[in-house]
Amino acid sequence: MKKNTTATFAEMKAKGEKISMLTCYDYSTAKLMDESGINAILVGDSLGNVMLGYEDTLSVTMEDMITYGGAVARACKNTMVVIDMPFMSYQVSVEQALTNAGRLMKEARANAVKLEGGASVCKQIKAITEAGIPVMAHIGMTPQSVNSFGGFKVQGKSEEDAKQIIEDALAVQEAGAFSVVMECVPKDLAALITKKLSIPTIGIGAGNGTDGQVLVYQDMLGMFNDYVPKFVKQYASLGDMMKKAFKDYDREVKETSFPNEEHIFKIDNEIITKLY
Ligand code: KIV
Repeated sequence: MKKNTTATFAEMKAKGEKISMLTCYDYSTAKLMDESGINAILVGDSLGNVMLGYEDTLSVTMEDMITYGGAVARACKNTMVVIDMPFMSYQVSVEQALTNAGRLMKEARANAVKLEGGASVCKQIKAITEAGIPVMAHIGMTPQSVNSFGGFKVQGKSEEDAKQIIEDALAVQEAGAFSVVMECVPKDLAALITKKLSIPTIGIGAGNGTDGQVLVYQDMLGMFNDYVPKFVKQYASLGDMMKKAFKDYDREVKETSFPNEEHIFKIDNEIITKLY
């Protein structure tokens, strides 16, 4: 299999093949995803929630994204790695956006960056793209704007809001984004936008009419139960399996059945007796 790139995304849309994307934040898990044929990994700023325990993504820093993003990039041979630009790393100015996108490419070795917003961030998308850095846009429910939305809510249900999301989608495409994430928008609206765009759409909580899907990996493995959004499908109950393993380990340590003969290193009896 060869490395997934922006060209792969374009080819897959042209052929009507669906694109699989998952979030990931560490080397070991990224290797498993790479070996499983996942097309792209998003090192999302959702790491603020699932890795760092914040209640939203606002406190995530560039340094966080570089540390976790670098770990994922080092694991991926075939899977494309997209790294999120954290809150306030691109909103202040085009210059700052360009500098920070460059850091994610140079220091974390991303294959592309993602940023949130529609028409309002098109200047940044254009500048970053013109510098040779592929940009994935993110519209609909954009978690960095949770305070403006008044909570994590489905977007685009009224005619006015739906029109705004369509305009945002067309604007980010025009600005040069190679793909766009649509989060928490009604299925029929996401499908309509997918038809209108020539770039691939990646949905999360947007139905199956988009060109691809992304989920937070701890959500889809059943490892994160602080809250489980309606759009999540749990493909495994790893949280329960992990708790069982932790409990078994705890019990075996206490009853000294671990470690046993197969886990130990030996020394000559003659030597050990001299040491007493
Ligand atoms: O940060 C993230 O994981 C995301 C996805 C939810 C799309 O932006």
